[in-house]
Amino acid sequence: MKKAISAILMFSCIAFASAAAKDIVISTPGTALVLNAEEGMPLKFCYYGDFTTLSGMKQLRAAGDAIDKNAYPSFGTGNLALPALAVTHNDGNITTDLIVTGVSSTEEAGSVLTVISTKDKVYPLYVDMCYRAYKDTDVIEMWTVIRHTEKKPVVMDRFDSGCLYFRRGDVWVSHLDGEWAAETSIVTEPLKAGMLTVRSYDGARNGQMSHGEIMVSLDGKPRENEGRAVGAALCWSGDYELRVNTDDNRTHSLYAGICAEPVGYVLDPHMDFETPHLAVSYSNEGIGGVSRNFHRYARGTRMHNGSACRDILLNSWEGVYFNINQEGMDGMMSDIASMGGELFVMDDGWFGRKYPRNDDTSSLGDWVVDMRKLPDGIDGLLASARKYGIKFGIWLEPEAISPASELFEKHPDWALKATKRDYNYGRGGTQLLLDLTNPAVQDCIVNMVDTLLTSYPEIAYIKWDANGAVRNFGSPYLKADKQGNMFVDYHRGLESVMKRIRSKYPGIVIQACGGGGGRINYGVMPYFDEYWVSDNTDAYQRLFIQWGTSYFYPSNSLGQHVSAEKNHQTGRVIPLKFRFDVAMTGRLGMEIQPKDMSAEDKDFARKAIRDYKSIRPVVQLGNQYRLISPYEGKNVASMMYVTDDKSRAVFFAYKMEHYMFQQVPRFMAAGLDAGRNYRIRELTVPEGEKPSGLDGAVISGAILMNTGFEVPLDREYASRVYELTAE
Ligand code: GLA
Repeated sequence: MKKAISAILMFSCIAFASAAAKDIVISTPGTALVLNAEEGMPLKFCYYGDFTTLSGMKQLRAAGDAIDKNAYPSFGTGNLALPALAVTHNDGNITTDLIVTGVSSTEEAGSVLTVISTKDKVYPLYVDMCYRAYKDTDVIEMWTVIRHTEKKPVVMDRFDSGCLYFRRGDVWVSHLDGEWAAETSIVTEPLKAGMLTVRSYDGARNGQMSHGEIMVSLDGKPRENEGRAVGAALCWSGDYELRVNTDDNRTHSLYAGICAEPVGYVLDPHMDFETPHLAVSYSNEGIGGVSRNFHRYARGTRMHNGSACRDILLNSWEGVYFNINQEGMDGMMSDIASMGGELFVMDDGWFGRKYPRNDDTSSLGDWVVDMRKLPDGIDGLLASARKYGIKFGIWLEPEAISPASELFEKHPDWALKATKRDYNYGRGGTQLLLDLTNPAVQDCIVNMVDTLLTSYPEIAYIKWDANGAVRNFGSPYLKADKQGNMFVDYHRGLESVMKRIRSKYPGIVIQACGGGGGRINYGVMPYFDEYWVSDNTDAYQRLFIQWGTSYFYPSNSLGQHVSAEKNHQTGRVIPLKFRFDVAMTGRLGMEIQPKDMSAEDKDFARKAIRDYKSIRPVVQLGNQYRLISPYEGKNVASMMYVTDDKSRAVFFAYKMEHYMFQQVPRFMAAGLDAGRNYRIRELTVPEGEKPSGLDGAVISGAILMNTGFEVPLDREYASRVYELTAE
């Protein structure tokens, strides 16, 4: 934390603090968060919602809308609030009582940072509560910086990033649940008395079983474009806990932060501990409004190279699995280039000298080409890519190590391990994780990536995989009294590695993969360009999975691939058009052996890729409107993207189940300009099939949005894609 920011200004200097109420309004264009910061008192949370001012807040108070609850309750204050902070001081005292000592405000590029300094009444423990409000996006980040000057370390058992309060009522939450190959499944439930907890305990990846994001609908069941809603995303790649507590008849409270269980974090004196940022957004345009705010924030602020369109790629995994060789890779590159693709990614199976990587039991850590499979090395692959005019990318799993590897032989103490205990193995019955708390391990990973990219500057893309959970609960590097810090320090180590790689290689595209969607989180976002959504590429199930990821993640960050006709995960057989139309709502790619495709299918793929290119900026950078959810059970799903100026849009509709005499709902567009006419062009129409009657029609935004339109979906897995262009 910079000195300038933590410097305490006296209240009299703060233009926005009213002398009487000490209210502080932290605002974005359409929203405001109001805190009350009276010196000598705990910081209070008063209001979060539609934009307001100090005088507006007076009226809200008069209307009884001020919440006035502790903005960052600590354990042991006597008011029994659920704690956001719990510290065991070095004399054994387990209580903390924070009071405001000052407020400062700093103008930043595109945002305003407000810091409220607090201090324990007795102990030299200081907590800065930080709020960054964006000027062009309705997102506020909140976090804390904790430090102390006690004689010995303190143990932080709980150190949330922040908390938010909502008026109790017909309040619903939606959060994301899942498993490998079934990630981001949406759970929607009303809030009742008691505590709802969403938490991750994987250690390394945190997006597979649940997500550190939550959507709160304040006016009854979630609606896409109406009603007040708040979203919160914890910008952290490790274990987290989101708690929504309802223990009084006035409020629901949301707490979000790193999960420190089962041990706390040991904090040395004079060290700043910055909690992960909690990004929150309010919208009165339903959960869709919140999603759009997050998409804008991710693209504009948080994600690496967030405003760029991504390339169309072929990934080798489902096409050949571990069966990598020069001829096969060359063939795949030739095929994807001929279909209009722009990038080829060679997945797992290319590395290992002493221990060849033929399956998932060995070689992790030995990132050297297996010359038996690729006699011309990476040069040979790059030559193929050059020949076909496409880019080349490569798979790595830098945080993992196999016992059967030269790296492990050299550095057995680089793997996480609890002293005196045997290893617990992960994938393949062998996989271990490197101890990223260790600076030597961090250097090794940075050097490996650096050597690869300096030796082969033409490598344009890295798929950075993370297939393992933390299963060995000990760091050979950390001191005995700091073993519990590994859950946090692993991720600080990862951040440091990524920062170093990014500072030298800002242009390379890096995908975050976590054994499927396990690494989809806001924590790694500044270092990665995109995520692999799921190892499940079944277009039908992908409709559900992708619906879930869209709650918080923008479409240009979501890798969505067309795979084999008979899906490898579910065995479902789905027509190629439907598979393309589902993948086209995000960053389109293929994950297939093109050799096995018929000439007719290849022709269709060529056409679909051409069509996708013509709408790519609208899909990847436009505003998303979810229209009919696959979760509604209407047997259809539909969504669209609209450009900021509403001059272009793309509409997608899918038939998920089909039976005779079935009623298909009318489709109502959203986000268009009611006063303009739109010309409709149907895309991805297979050769020999006629486009639907809507193709070529000119219809006003008002009709499309308010009266609706019919989309012919006359069989199971029928789908339609329409481009709408304002005249
Ligand atoms: C993980 C990834 C897959 C693939 C394999 C390779 O499962 O999610 O896409 O890269 O690893 O082993």
